[in-house]
Amino acid sequence: MESLEKEAAIALDYLSRVSQEAEKKFDELLPPVTDQPCRLHEAMRYSMFAGGKRLRPALVKAAFDMFGGKGNSVDYAMSALEMLHTFSLIHDDLPCVDNDDFRRGKPTSHKQFGEATAVMAGDALCIHAFEMMGKTGNAKAIEILAHLLGTYGMIGGEMIDIESEGKAVDLATVDYIHYHKTAALLEASLEVGARLANATEDEIKIIRDYGRSIGLAFQIVDDILDIVSTTEELGKDAGSDIEKGKATYPALVGLEKSRERARELYDESIKALDGLKYDTTILRSVAAFIITRVK
Ligand code: IPE
Ligand code: IPE
Ligand code: MG
Ligand code: MG
Ligand code: MG
Repeated sequence: MESLEKEAAIALDYLSRVSQEAEKKFDELLPPVTDQPCRLHEAMRYSMFAGGKRLRPALVKAAFDMFGGKGNSVDYAMSALEMLHTFSLIHDDLPCVDNDDFRRGKPTSHKQFGEATAVMAGDALCIHAFEMMGKTGNAKAIEILAHLLGTYGMIGGEMIDIESEGKAVDLATVDYIHYHKTAALLEASLEVGARLANATEDEIKIIRDYGRSIGLAFQIVDDILDIVSTTEELGKDAGSDIEKGKATYPALVGLEKSRERARELYDESIKALDGLKYDTTILRSVAAFIITRVK
């Protein structure tokens, strides 16, 4: 584990550099609070600038740069992916979904602005993200992103997550939930970056295999942290999963087996990268970060 933590340091540095760059773009591309409807724009910005690891924009950029992408289309895509992720968090926290009070170290959107505004801030971020994607001019990237976000992706995972609350589900169902609600958007981030850099279909397949492995590992670690960490450390409500009887990895197989599974997925993700003839330093490090992270 110690050497993995060393490996993860490269990703931590990368995330902090990408965050600074990306946040300037978010500020440019989000509607200003001085435009009507001011309160909606305020709510969109509140959640976007509350913090967060900025993992999805970092994956867009890492894939784009690795495949030799040129030009500024990547800036639009990085912002779009963070807007989509933030939309998913605002709606995931709503009283009718996970009913959580804290996110990114602050009160959740509905706590701060009320439910109606939170619903609309999520909707508006999602739609604004696709407007930004339109500026890339890459129809295939937009199509794939919509697919991985919709009923066959993130939304589908959220739906089965909610339907499975309080039920005894099998591991295949937990895998379905985790792949869809979380891995799909990480995969999409990588594929969008790769497509904007004109990667080949074979290369895209490999980068998606990597994305699926780190995506599932990411959600397993999220489940573990929900149990072993605190609200202060996470910046979001710890213990939320047990309270709601969520279908999680630790609930089904326990903490130790969950950790082992995350490690196996890490190994699979590194194996996938071996198929690429590019410098995979950043992506390797991101995989290490995902299984060693503490928030
Ligand atoms: C939280 O995602 C939601 C999940 C998919 C588990 P992150 O852990 O990436 O949240 P931020 O962006 O850092 O706040
Ligand atoms: C949410 O999974 C994944 C999303 C699509 C937002 P969780 O419900 O476990 O995420 P957290 O723990 O609230 O961040
Ligand atoms: Mg949830
Ligand atoms: Mg949640
Ligand atoms: Mg969680």
